[in-house]
Order: sequence, then C-alpha cells, then structure tokens
Amino acid sequence: MEKHVLALQLSHLLGEEFSREWVYSLIEIPKQEKFGDLAFPCFQLAKSFRQSPAKIAAQLAPRLEHDLFASAQPAGGYINIFLNQPVLTEQTLKQILTEGTNYGSHQFGADQNVVLDMSAPNIAKPFSMGHLRSTVIGNALANLAEKCGYETMKINYIGDYGTQFGKLLAAYQKWGDDEQIRSNPIPELTKIYVRFHEEAEQDPSLIEEGRHWFKKLEGNDAEAVKHWKWFKDASLEEFNKIYDLLGVTFDLTRGEAYYNDKMDGTVYQLKENGLLTDSEGAKVVRLDDEGLPPCLIKKSNGTTIYATRDLTAAIDRYNSYQFNEALYVVGHEQTLHFQQIKHVLAKLNLPWAQDVKHISFGMMLQNGSKMSTRKGKTILLKEVLAEAIDQAKTNIEDKNPALINKEEVAKQVGVGAVIFHDLKHDRRNDVEFSLKDMLTFEGDTAPYLQYANARAQSLLEKAKYVQEDAEVSLHDPNAWTVVKQLRLFPEMVMRAYTDYDPSKIARYLLDLAKAFNKYYAGTKILQEEQLHARLTLVYGFSVVLKEGLRLLGIHTPEKM
Ligand code: ARG
Repeated sequence: MEKHVLALQLSHLLGEEFSREWVYSLIEIPKQEKFGDLAFPCFQLAKSFRQSPAKIAAQLAPRLEHDLFASAQPAGGYINIFLNQPVLTEQTLKQILTEGTNYGSHQFGADQNVVLDMSAPNIAKPFSMGHLRSTVIGNALANLAEKCGYETMKINYIGDYGTQFGKLLAAYQKWGDDEQIRSNPIPELTKIYVRFHEEAEQDPSLIEEGRHWFKKLEGNDAEAVKHWKWFKDASLEEFNKIYDLLGVTFDLTRGEAYYNDKMDGTVYQLKENGLLTDSEGAKVVRLDDEGLPPCLIKKSNGTTIYATRDLTAAIDRYNSYQFNEALYVVGHEQTLHFQQIKHVLAKLNLPWAQDVKHISFGMMLQNGSKMSTRKGKTILLKEVLAEAIDQAKTNIEDKNPALINKEEVAKQVGVGAVIFHDLKHDRRNDVEFSLKDMLTFEGDTAPYLQYANARAQSLLEKAKYVQEDAEVSLHDPNAWTVVKQLRLFPEMVMRAYTDYDPSKIARYLLDLAKAFNKYYAGTKILQEEQLHARLTLVYGFSVVLKEGLRLLGIHTPEKM
C-alpha cells in the first residue's frame, strides 16, 4: 500500500517515461532502521536528469507528501522514507481484525485452476526424502494458490509402472516370502529388489527373467497382475500413513499404469502431426530445433515409456480440468524430461503447453551424493518423522510436563520441524540431509515459530483478551517493527506463489517471529496503559503467524 503510494507520487514527479511499475520495482526496504522504512535509490535517474543521484534525491525528497509518510529525507543517492507509524499501525490492526485468517488473501487467481502433480512416490520402494520434498513443496504451493484465489487439484501420480516391476516380480518368484511381505511390505520388497540387482551382477540371466516378467505384466498375465496389485496396495497403505502424519491429502491418486491402455491415442496423434520418426527401430520425436535430444516415445521392442505416459496424462488432465496452470513438482534431475514433454506438447499445437511448468527442486544429499534405493542406503522418512515426534515429546516432558494433549502437540511440533526444515530452503538448492538439523528445535525452525505463538497465546489468555475489547490505536515505537512485518504478509503470499517459492513465507515467518520476540523481551505488554491496543497487536501477530504456518502445512498448537 505505502509502496504503491510512493511509486505513484514519484512517477508523477519524474514524468511519464518513468512508470509507476518501474519506480515500484526499485523501492527497497532498508536493512537498518535509521535509513527509514522505505528507500528509493536515485542512481538510475542520473543519466536522464544529468545530475548526481544525491542532488536528485535532495530535490525529490521535500516534494513527497502523504498522510502515510512521516518524512522523506535525502541521504547519499537515496530518498529515505519514514512512515506514519500511528496511522499505519491502526490500519494494519483494523485490517487483521476484520479479515481474520483471510488477511493476506488475493483474488488474482479467481476463476482459474491449478493442477499440481506432487509427491508421486514409487511403489515397492521406501518413501524417499525426494518424495517428501515434492509432497511438502506441492502442498504449500497448493495452499498458496488457494490463498491467491485459485482452485486447486492435487494429483498423486504414483510410480507403479516400468521395467523395474519386471525385476521385482522376478525377484519375488525367487525369494518372495508372503508372510514377511504382508507384515512389512516395503522393506521386504526393497530387500528382494536390492538382492536382485546384486545377484544380477554375477548372473546376467536374471536380467532376462526381469524382462520376461515385465512382458507378462504388460500382457496382463493374471499372476503378474495379481502380485503387482498386491505390492501396489500394500505400498499405498504405507504411504497413506505418512500422508496422515504430514496432514497432506490429494484430490486424485492415480498411478502411471492407468495410462497404459490410453497411450495409443497419443502415439496416433504424434504420427498424424508428422512428429514421429524412426531411430534405430525406436519411435522418437526429434527436438533438434529446441537443442534437445529426441524424446523417446516407443522403444524398439514396442514398449512405451515414462515420457509417453506423461504426455498422455498431461493431455488427459487438460481435457478433464482445462487447467490454467499445471505444476509438476519434481526433482531437478528430471529437468530434461519435462523440457521434452513441454516441447512435444507445443509441437502438437496445444496452446496450453506453455502453462505446463516444471517446479524443480534440489536433491537431498547424503555426504554430498545422491541417496539411492538400489544400494539400499535411502533414509526412511517414516523413521525420521518418528524420531522427530519422539524428540518433541522429550522436550515437552522437560519443559511443560503438565500439558494435557502432549501426544498431539508432540506430533505437531515434530512433524512441523521436518516440514519447515525442508521449506525454509530455496527449493532449487540441494539440501544435505542432517537428522540433527532437522530435529533442532531452536534457531530457524518450526518449533521456534510455534513457541512464539504459544507465548502470544499465553499473554492473551492471562489478560483474558476477547476480540470485543480490541483497540487499534497504538502509540508505541517499539511495536513498529512488528507492525511492519505484519504489513508485509499479503505481498509475501503473492510473491511466494508467483515465484512458486514457499521459502519466502518460511523466511518471512522467521522475521516476523524474531520481531515479535524482541518486542516481547523489551516491552512490558501487560501494563495498564494501552493494554488493549497492545494485546490486539499480539493477537494480530498470532493470526498471521498461524496462517503463515498453515500455508506451509504446519499446525500451531495453542500451548506447548
Ligand atoms: N515417480 C516418479 C519418480 O519418483 C516421479 C513422477 C513425477 N511426476 C510425473 N508426472 N512425471 O521419479
């Protein structure tokens, strides 16, 4: 709001060629409070005005006037703007009181829908840290999209097809133990799969057996299908336990295999459009003009592959939902695959191809290298979550043994810690897996945020604050940093969504909580004078913090 006012005034003063948008994009928020609340750098104006930035700042500053500005001061090549604290504080508190959890919402996504492809673990394999990333990033993006007015459709595209299932079926024939699989499906299936790979190194005939079983599966052989279905159901049951813990739901869970009998249409369409070429017996779509390797559609032995299924699924999704955006939250090792998918869709003259976006993320590394199931060294998410919850429980016993709903709070804190640890990083970066970092409850963590809220809640409870007592006129310079943070929330929501970057919210919440904790430490909040206004600020803080955490998929206990 104040940024828009400033941009408008400056662009008026500067003349037509300096648009409001351009000015807006240059406005900074100074790191140090002594430089004001907003700053406008004049360096880029020097050339047009043939004057030093300092001179330009000195000329412009006195001409900036508005109710929202307390003063505008030139300093070096900058104009530093100090805002009218009482007016803006009042506005902010009023707005949060009236809008409640709707504060920070937008309407730019109204009447549009976003389809998210997220989580997508592979059956018969442990739920990996990479799939955790896809799940929590996708979930946060869906929440953010909804906050911006979009409708969302969350799809879990389970990896339930491919040659590896031939290998698994072959391994099952050899070493499968029904009893074990029933009681402990994923570890048991992983074990025989790993063994298959190990033994195949000595005995190449195994690979042939794997192929044979995949052929059977493709040919709908009753036995192959029966076992494959069993492995799938057992895996999904395990995955659902994790989704329950994470509090993530899907609008549609649909495996890759669903598209097996629907790919002919895609292949036909590609052919009709003259896009299919032969390459050593295989069918491919050449992407030379895009500078990409060809997209493989059909192998020389006639089997279709991952890309063909993804193309078919994308077309099916568009036909079903007419999405405005389709976001694929998948690790960056699949970047080439999604570039190829997008280009092939574009070559089919499907105008919506441009709305297909790969939201890539970095890998979870272990000692600097990728975790791999084949070698059996994947860290089990289930164990990480269990340990986080355990640790949260220990902390509660330590700090607040009288707490009534310990189990529930421990779950919210432990799971929150794991989710936040992921989301606070820029998604594009690789993250070194560290159980220790994940389970630290101090510093830049979810429990730190949750504690700040519990502190706020306990103040409100002590003072028996009810919203009817709210007062919005607060004259307290110490409160200003908190108010300023509260004012940033709507913009942060918008930027987090438009950049597909939940870490913007995560880092914002840390700044907000730090400002609040500083205020809490330096000000006696429960004092007679301006009590209700101060409590309203505390209440506003709690509303925004909780809503921000909700967007990230994290619960906030009232007490901890
Ligand atoms: N199951 C795949 C994997 O674990 C990810 C699938 C991503 N989604 C997609 N539409 N391709 O690598």
